[in-house]
Amino acid sequence: MEQKESPYICHVFVCTNDRHGEKRSCADGNSPAILDALKKEVSNRGWKKEVRVSQSGCFGLCGRGPNVIIYPQKIWFSEVSTNDVTGIVQKVQDVLDAMN
Ligand code: FES
Repeated sequence: MEQKESPYICHVFVCTNDRHGEKRSCADGNSPAILDALKKEVSNRGWKKEVRVSQSGCFGLCGRGPNVIIYPQKIWFSEVSTNDVTGIVQKVQDVLDAMN
């Protein structure tokens, strides 16, 4: 295998796990729409080389979903809705500002 440093300053993971109603999961809170909105914001702001937004499986906080996390900064957001996308983007901006 090859090991190298991440090219991204931060990596935003959005849990899109869907248990189809068998048990609560982040998809119940429309996390795919949160994922799409975050991807669009990162693209619109020209951050594609610094910030990566990816869908993810379960983080183990299903009852408090939708969950979004930012690494390596160890920032976790729970009970997220599409109305919170602006706040998450602002937190990413803060991370980028702190790096520059
Ligand atoms: S289903 Fe999203 S944290 Fe478990």
